[in-house]
Amino acid sequence: MILIVYAHHEPTSFNHALLETARNTLLRQGHEVEVSDLYAMNFEARASRSDFQEMRDSVRFGYSREQYYANRTGSFASDIAVEMDKLRRADAVIFQFPLWWFSMPAIMKGWVDRVFANGFAYGGSTGQFFERGMMAGKRAMICTTTGGPSYTFSPAGMCGSMEAALWPIHNGILRFVGFDVLPPFVVNGVDILDRETLSAALDAYAQRVSRLQEDELMFFHPWSDYAGDMRLKPGIQARTIGQLARSEPDEADTSVDEKPAAIPILETDMTAYMTVVLTVTDTEWIGEYIRHVPPIMERHGGRPVTVSGLVDVLEGDVIPSQIAHFAFPNMEALNAFMEDPEYLPWKEARQAGANTLIFAFNAAK
Ligand SMILES: Cc1cc2nc3c(=O)[nH]c(=O)nc-3n(C[C@H](O)[C@H](O)[C@H](O)COP(=O)(O)O)c2cc1C
Repeated sequence: MILIVYAHHEPTSFNHALLETARNTLLRQGHEVEVSDLYAMNFEARASRSDFQEMRDSVRFGYSREQYYANRTGSFASDIAVEMDKLRRADAVIFQFPLWWFSMPAIMKGWVDRVFANGFAYGGSTGQFFERGMMAGKRAMICTTTGGPSYTFSPAGMCGSMEAALWPIHNGILRFVGFDVLPPFVVNGVDILDRETLSAALDAYAQRVSRLQEDELMFFHPWSDYAGDMRLKPGIQARTIGQLARSEPDEADTSVDEKPAAIPILETDMTAYMTVVLTVTDTEWIGEYIRHVPPIMERHGGRPVTVSGLVDVLEGDVIPSQIAHFAFPNMEALNAFMEDPEYLPWKEARQAGANTLIFAFNAAK
């Protein structure tokens, strides 16, 4: 069964058209479909004492603690229990909503607060969350619409990337309770799009929905990437928007996305530059590499100019994990670094764990 949780109050809205597109596509494919139409159901968004038929501690009310006991005793209020049953039956869940304040409308957030209960969706006595959350094995996908046009939802745009905007929902809600998360389907600028474009978006959505069970999932770091302190192990390169977007480098973190301060190149006497385009295939080597290689480079007068975060590919087939620029006093020094016998083992480790393009060039006068 596929569950669609839907939050829009207007049957003539584009969101409603997306809902109908998904429902019809899935029914045509032979799926059973259930829809939680939250406005139509007048779904209660506020978490409160009345969510529990019996209370463990009615003097000092702790919502999450009461959820835990209600899950053990089967004493959730009936509107919550009904939604939980739908989730038990669901193989996949689609969350359909217009983006409101960079998030889901409050009625859907209330559904999450009340239905993804401690003990039922995550947590419990064994502290199950992320890939061990109770929704593990089920797929989830966001389908959302925005008022902002697509160019505002880009890494350089006013709203930032859509991936960053949706990270709290993708990671903090869906992945947290264990879902395998599919890339979102987003229609930007809905308020200003013409009929033809909207109709093409519905066709594209039908295609996406028909591949719900086959499409590739979004990447989240697996448990094995984290150390005991729940931080990425040294040497594991952050690969999600949430972990790359931090502003302060983590003091225990040695991953390669830590950015050395940019050096204004015009004020230096460097004349030779090296650009490294790296596509990492195995992350094991990175921690040791960034500990040992910079001192060798420094001995030849070389230093980093910039090291990228996530790279957006605008044209071409290469999908780099990272691009870095280095400056050297001259080409002789650059070549001497590349051929330094001390660098050789690290070069070999890099070559084994990444596909790399390296360019050396002199600055144009
Ligand atoms: C309360 C509210 C908050 C909104 N917040 C955002 C927002 O953060 N970003 C955005 O791009 N659009 C925002 N919008 C615009 C809606 O996303 C847009 O009108 C909607 O996706 C259009 O779909 P519909 O025609 O199905 O309602 C907001 C609209 C409302 C009413």
